[in-house]
Amino acid sequence: MIKNIIVTLIWAAVSPMAQVAASEVQPIQLKCEHLVSPLGVDTQSPRLTWMLKDDRPGARQIAYQIIVGTDSIQVLNGKGTLWNSGKQGSDQMLVVYNGKSLKAVTRYFWRVTVWDKDGNPSSSKVAAFETGMMGTNHWKGTWISDNNNINHKPAPYFRKEFEVKKDVRYARAYIAVAGLYECSINGDRVGDHQLDPMYTRFDRRTLYVTHDVTSQLKKGANAIGMVLGNGWYNHQSLAVWDFHNAPWRARPAFCLDLRIVYKDGTEETIVSERDWKTASGPITFNSIYTGEHYDARLEQPGWDKPGFDDAKWGGVRYRSVPSNQVVAQLMVPIRLVTPYKPKLMKKIDGKTYVFDMGQNMSGVTRIRIKGPEGTILKIKHGERIHESGRVDMSNIDVYYRGDKEADPFQTDILILSGKKEDEFMPKFNYKGFRYIEVTSSEPVEMTEANVTAYFTHSDVKPFGEVNTSVPLVNSLWKVTNNAYLSNLMGYPTDCPQREKNGWTGDGHLAIETALYNFDGITVYEKWLADHRDEQQPNGVLPDIIPTGGWGYGTANGLDWTSTIAIIPWQVYMFYGDSRLLENCYENIQRYVDYVDRISPDGLTTFGRGDWVPVKTTSNLELTSSVYFYTDASILAAAAQLFGKVEDHRRYTALSQKIKDAINKKFLNRTTGIYAGGSQTELSVPLYWKVVPEDMIQKVAANLNKKVEETNFHLDVGVLGAKALLNALKENGYEQSAYKVAVQDTYPSWGWWVVNGATTLLENWDLKAQRDISDNHMMFGEIGGWFFKSIGGILPDPRQPGFKNILLRPIFPEGMDHAKVTHESPYGTIVSSWTKVNKKVTYEVQIPANASATFYPPANARDKGLVKLPAGKHTLQVTLL
Ligand code: BGC
Repeated sequence: MIKNIIVTLIWAAVSPMAQVAASEVQPIQLKCEHLVSPLGVDTQSPRLTWMLKDDRPGARQIAYQIIVGTDSIQVLNGKGTLWNSGKQGSDQMLVVYNGKSLKAVTRYFWRVTVWDKDGNPSSSKVAAFETGMMGTNHWKGTWISDNNNINHKPAPYFRKEFEVKKDVRYARAYIAVAGLYECSINGDRVGDHQLDPMYTRFDRRTLYVTHDVTSQLKKGANAIGMVLGNGWYNHQSLAVWDFHNAPWRARPAFCLDLRIVYKDGTEETIVSERDWKTASGPITFNSIYTGEHYDARLEQPGWDKPGFDDAKWGGVRYRSVPSNQVVAQLMVPIRLVTPYKPKLMKKIDGKTYVFDMGQNMSGVTRIRIKGPEGTILKIKHGERIHESGRVDMSNIDVYYRGDKEADPFQTDILILSGKKEDEFMPKFNYKGFRYIEVTSSEPVEMTEANVTAYFTHSDVKPFGEVNTSVPLVNSLWKVTNNAYLSNLMGYPTDCPQREKNGWTGDGHLAIETALYNFDGITVYEKWLADHRDEQQPNGVLPDIIPTGGWGYGTANGLDWTSTIAIIPWQVYMFYGDSRLLENCYENIQRYVDYVDRISPDGLTTFGRGDWVPVKTTSNLELTSSVYFYTDASILAAAAQLFGKVEDHRRYTALSQKIKDAINKKFLNRTTGIYAGGSQTELSVPLYWKVVPEDMIQKVAANLNKKVEETNFHLDVGVLGAKALLNALKENGYEQSAYKVAVQDTYPSWGWWVVNGATTLLENWDLKAQRDISDNHMMFGEIGGWFFKSIGGILPDPRQPGFKNILLRPIFPEGMDHAKVTHESPYGTIVSSWTKVNKKVTYEVQIPANASATFYPPANARDKGLVKLPAGKHTLQVTLL
């Protein structure tokens, strides 16, 4: 690294912005609870957020005023019966509702007026949010189910007819389910969500979903239908995690209120009650883990339409409420996001076809096919193929303990009606796959047209983009995102096939990559609520969440379950929203206090260690203690944020004690080496800021030497993979970090891509015999690192939520240009550069009401930092 060279950084506004007319200034993107016009808000203090559309240089908000009321015209005219915040001299764009108490099932309108940098006001359009049940008192329906027990295979169907006699103003369906469901009204599906409601610890929290069904009702006779699936609630397939013994396990049940408000102001609620009828239908078996079986001969056309003859249908039975908390599912839903047609079809014989979808993914297959009555099709899904071209499931079925004949893994079974072209897509299952193998009991003719796969996941909005002159970087970014999305199903999972478990470590190791790339806050707020549901009174957390009981005493320590501190902290960094941190404060404290109790000297071996390393293993006590330090530091910072003076003092002292203990035991001050000096052992203390100030250079130099020794290849497991690139880049070795990041021979991320991976893998070694899923997110730091390095876009802990953006880009050798963008709470951040020889033209865009600080990289001639206001800027940087 070259230092101490005096230089000047030349920067100039190359394209001065034209002055924008004031009318082009407007508050936009109004959200409530981080969602646009949400239905079913259950809190008395919803968060209201907006952005400022104002392209002028230095654009800011100097004041705001919020109006909330139940009459949209009044709100438009600046009158709100619920809340008028008054003009607040503040640049805040996230404000917690602070008006009169909100009522259940009520539509509220709101509007914000902001005053721009010149003191001119401009108002947003009117936005809305609607409250939900707000507790249990407003439900009118009751929990019902069919009369079968947990072992019964066919899915229960339910129906009820009702009359709509008057004109409908609006109607909402509130649907609470233990298990999974699909609802339809007059034969049409309600909503476009998949696998609702999301998986929770069912005996502690049950979710209900709200849908606007106004347009689905008609005057006269109507019918409502429900099909229930088992999901994680009634796990019938056997696997090592014991979900079939979950304490909550029962036959799926539901409670439904269909609230109709008529144009004359009266209202009526159609409810789940004893007057519903039930029967079984074509879904003869369903398992979230293995597959769905469908017998098209058992279809009952018109069952969810009025006028259907349900004389053969039976009565329902009452069920108790599954948990004390029936709360709104206020989050981004799972959807069938991206359809894929086969890239290739191989006809093995008249009864066997294999389809290559060209992309590994989580999802489902839709099949449309005609064939002789009773023909049985087995639709098997896998990530690999044998040399014969048949699907190979040996890398993913290893923990399955069920009946491989009756309940084959990752396989749907379809029995054809013989009467028509049958269409089937599972409702209550998903799989991890790239290849689909269809085998049939009778010869059938198939083409690519018969099959569509849907990449299915929590439909989080893309929030980031990486586009560079280096194809491998672009591929790695895409591949990482595909692995991330494959592992987002209302909670982050480890893999979409073998386990589908909410492994805590995998979740937090990927959190920055997640938040740079996707609008994930609602999913993480839900998952952290799952954490709170699962925490033991003593503070301990299981390492899969949710869990039916498995995951204690399984090395469920700090390097995995620090999710409880790390995720709320990162959400605060990325969104500037401290609610999750506040909601988890007591839980983080309980967790840290527990570890403190079992670790009087500040060191702990509570953890799993550097999982799936290339070669060298690392010291468990060192890595676990570093995570202990991290949690204590986060707790101390949170205490300060929330004005908890005594806690702040106490946890600052605790984190200092842990740090000192780590350095005393593991740091050789003479050599600058921690423990055995592995890549992980050097990078973890550097990245998590445990290294004493005066030793950083020495330790970083040792780390750099270590990666030089491996010729810029990885020798880490998951903990090192999180830390390594950052530790190098943040301490002056950005070129080394970059070389490791774009390495394409074994062992490296690039090696996976070179070998055709379309998602990240679980093991560096392609020939490994275990831990070999082809769709894992635990090594996913790479995708986020591009934002931090090539884009250099970082949140400023002192002004989180990108209120102030730290710009610390690197301009590595081998890359000529890059454009990295991130949708921050203030708007789009662009960090883009072009390099010609030693001259870099660096273009940035800072959203209105935000600012940035540019830190030239270590190899820039000028080291002076530059403060940038909102707007577009072009800086010229000369490299050494
Ligand atoms: C999972 C991992 C997980 C690990 C911990 C594996 O089976 O797939 O991603 O974190 O177990 O032991």
